Amino acid sequence: MAVLTLRNSKRVIKERAQVEQACKSANVIYEVWGTERLPKNLSSRNLSDAEKQQLLKAFDPEIQRLYKTRGYKTADVVTLYPETPNLDAMLAKFDKKHVHSDDEVRFVVQGRGVFTLFPPGGEIIDAELHPGDFITVPGNYKHFFTLCSDKQITAIRIFTDPAGWVANYVD
Ligand SMILES: [Fe+2]
Repeated sequence: MAVLTLRNSKRVIKERAQVEQACKSANVIYEVWGTERLPKNLSSRNLSDAEKQQLLKAFDPEIQRLYKTRGYKTADVVTLYPETPNLDAMLAKFDKKHVHSDDEVRFVVQGRGVFTLFPPGGEIIDAELHPGDFITVPGNYKHFFTLCSDKQITAIRIFTDPAGWVANYVD
C-alpha cells in the first residue's frame, strides 16, 4: 500500500481510502491491483523474458482495460537494482521536475519508488509506492521519480508509445 507524505504539512497518509482520496484530489489515478497474483519465486533482479511474460499475463485484465479505456497500446516490465548498468545516469533523467506529453503509467511488482507530485494549486506530495500499487501520472503533470535507499524496483510500464515517452524539464 502506498504511503503519501504531504511536504508542507508533514501529514502522512497510509490508510487505503485516504490514499485513494488524496490521489483523486491531486488528479492522479491510484489503484490497488494487489500482490495476490504475483508469480511466486520471481527473480528480484534480472527477470527472464519468461518471467516478464508471466507478469504481463497475470495482470492482463487490467492492462486490457486500460488499453480500451485510455488508449494505451503497449506494456513492458522494467527492473532496476543497484548493479543495473548506468543506473545513476538513468535515474538522473527522471529525478528532476518534468512532464511527459503522455501519461506515466506504472504498476509496482517488487521494491519501491517515490513519485513526487506537484498538483496544480495543491500541496506537494511524496507518494512512495509499494508492490501492488498502480499509478497514472497524467500527461503534462509536473512530477519526478526517485528510488529509495535500496535502489530496487520492478514495475510494469504501460504506454501509448514508448518512443514518445521522454522527460521535458520544467520549473
Ligand atoms: Fe516521469
